[in-house]
Amino acid sequence: MKELLMDAAERAGRYVACVGKRSVAPGPEEVMRLSALGGSMPEGPSDPERALALLDEFGSPATVASTGPRYFGFVIGGILPAALAANWLAAAWDQNAALSVMSPVATAVEDVALGWLRELLGLPQSCGVGFVTGATMANFTCLAAARHAVLGRAGWDVEQDGLFGAPPITVVVGDEVHVTLLKALSLLGLGRARVVRVPADDQGRMRFGALPPLDERTIVCMQAGNVNTGAFDPAGEICSRAHEAGAWVHVDGAFGLWAAAAPQRAHLTAGFGNADSWATDCHKWLNVPYDSGVAVVRQAEHLRSAMALSAAYLQTGGIREPSHYTPEVSRRARGIELWAALRSLGREGLKEMIERNCRLARSFAECLQGAGFEVLNEVVLNQVLVSFGSAEETRRVIDDLQREGTCWCGGTQWHGRTAMRISVSNWATTEVDVEHSLAAILRIAKLGKPSTS
Ligand SMILES: Cc1ncc(COP(=O)(O)O)c(C=O)c1O
Repeated sequence: MKELLMDAAERAGRYVACVGKRSVAPGPEEVMRLSALGGSMPEGPSDPERALALLDEFGSPATVASTGPRYFGFVIGGILPAALAANWLAAAWDQNAALSVMSPVATAVEDVALGWLRELLGLPQSCGVGFVTGATMANFTCLAAARHAVLGRAGWDVEQDGLFGAPPITVVVGDEVHVTLLKALSLLGLGRARVVRVPADDQGRMRFGALPPLDERTIVCMQAGNVNTGAFDPAGEICSRAHEAGAWVHVDGAFGLWAAAAPQRAHLTAGFGNADSWATDCHKWLNVPYDSGVAVVRQAEHLRSAMALSAAYLQTGGIREPSHYTPEVSRRARGIELWAALRSLGREGLKEMIERNCRLARSFAECLQGAGFEVLNEVVLNQVLVSFGSAEETRRVIDDLQREGTCWCGGTQWHGRTAMRISVSNWATTEVDVEHSLAAILRIAKLGKPSTS
């Protein structure tokens, strides 16, 4: 076993050492060679070393180097060294984080990490918290607690009686709501299309003046960090209006909530602390391994009521039982990587990482603007939207850039315009990475620019 693990460490070490030097996207040949991992199911056992060697030989070259420093697609973080190493150790421990009796270490480490997380995000320590796979499930979990609370006020027990014949709930979202929040609503029986959509401004912020009438059976979903622009909804105004009416306010803060940990960006999160529930990701801006999200609910009993279960054989202790706060029962101990990431970064390290990513996003924007290209958003956070002219030309630049391999950026539509998205979310990205990436982007973009001479 030990030799196998040393072999895995050796191979992973080689991968990590080279990931910043190779083409970010794998070539078509590398992807074709993945068929070597197929074939019929082996009849008999074989050496685990052989399985590992095959994975490395054919799998490693076909990875997307999204953990490397020049991947700017979607909103994807890399892995902090401490988080990766902790993940390996935790995999060897193979703990089930469902109940404290199954894993005192998972429960204790998770409790510490969640305490730090609440403090960093400026949320009360009394909040109920659950570890889930990502922001989609964190939104789901928080909205299940919201559904419990607003229907409970109407005397309806949704966990027991479901939604058949339940009093209606109004769900309010901004027009630029993230699509995964709508998915979470659909999983909860609240419907994707049944929401009231509030018009958004040019940055994707909810127009607070356009909020519909709210009441105590309303759930208002705000956003901290729009996936395209990085913009934040006007939380202070929305929260006070919603709370006057007795409504529940939920925050989708998949990456944006982390701005609270960086003093120069913290003003963006002002007012978000007044909400009733918050969803965030750790695998994005905190740079821990996939998958890792957190659901936080101000009144822990609402989360517990929506999620807790009991059975005679499920022995529970006097302390917080992790699975009483999550949709899953058995699950891996994600809190261990969160603990390792925060323990190794400290407040200063986290602040530096977030500030640096935002600064580098601004460098991208300024340089591209300086070269005559249009930046479509106010670069307040780590997201940049750039147009290279027509929709066809912007798509050409994105395609050529992805093929060229220095860096990787995806595309989007923003208010009728085709744009390239640059999301700077990786702990390892430096000024030099941005210089190399800009050189590649400009070289490719200028091929399509009519010469002025
Ligand atoms: C604002 C927002 N909410 C939710 C999500 C979904 O996150 P996940 O893919 O971790 O479930 C994202 C992903 O980019 C996001 O940006």
